Amino acid sequence: MKRLIFAANWKMHLGPEAARGYMETFLARVPLLDDREAWFFPAAVALHAVAEAARGRGDLAVGAQNVHWEEKGAFTGEVSAPMILDAGATAALVGHSERRHVFGETDAETGRKVRSLLAHGLTPVLCVGEKLEQREAGVTLSVVGRHLGVLEDLDARALAKVVIAYEPVWAIGTGKTATPADAVEVHAFIRDFMGREGADPGQTRILYGGSVKPDNIADLVGESEIDGVLVGGASLDPVTWGTMVQTPLD
Ligand code: 13P
Repeated sequence: MKRLIFAANWKMHLGPEAARGYMETFLARVPLLDDREAWFFPAAVALHAVAEAARGRGDLAVGAQNVHWEEKGAFTGEVSAPMILDAGATAALVGHSERRHVFGETDAETGRKVRSLLAHGLTPVLCVGEKLEQREAGVTLSVVGRHLGVLEDLDARALAKVVIAYEPVWAIGTGKTATPADAVEVHAFIRDFMGREGADPGQTRILYGGSVKPDNIADLVGESEIDGVLVGGASLDPVTWGTMVQTPLD
């Protein structure tokens, strides 16, 4: 039985001190989750603080928002897979739309990051998704297919470790959410891709992200195609996020 993943991407918010306070409030409100997991993606400087706060709770996990593909070296401003592992991370986002569209990250770079994470036993959360003009032009699935292409030569064992997050760019931070039906269509396409590559499609975990809020989360996680959510803005308040993580499932 797959456990749903409720993932919080804090983006460039909450330093170590604020993160400790956040976790204190969250932990006081959220008892051990037995049918789901809550994952936190803090800024790199707060990774260790969040990992320490989550220590001993098997239902919680911590990951980085980005990683460099090299292990070490003269790459000013970057952090590597071994470094985030040392800080307590078990996962990292890769190819988030802000990395792709604000920082110009390419599919080739995304692919190298996925491989570096896998080489260190970390879970890559590969983010994929189309821009508004691409959706309107009817090329959503080919864009998502291109983003997924970085997984093409991975074996079944590696693919089993990868989590995919479908985040339509036009729904991120805009208040516009894909309808559950829109999300389901793309999730089914992703699941089919993973199956063709040799993964067990039933075990592949595919999250939806983009303006997930307290008032739409139940409809999204109620879809059997949707294995969890990746949430930005609404995850920044520990009380709101604590409630969202405990969304009742039918
Ligand atoms: P919002 O939930 O703020 O739309 O952000 C989504 C996102 O980018 C999560 O990675």
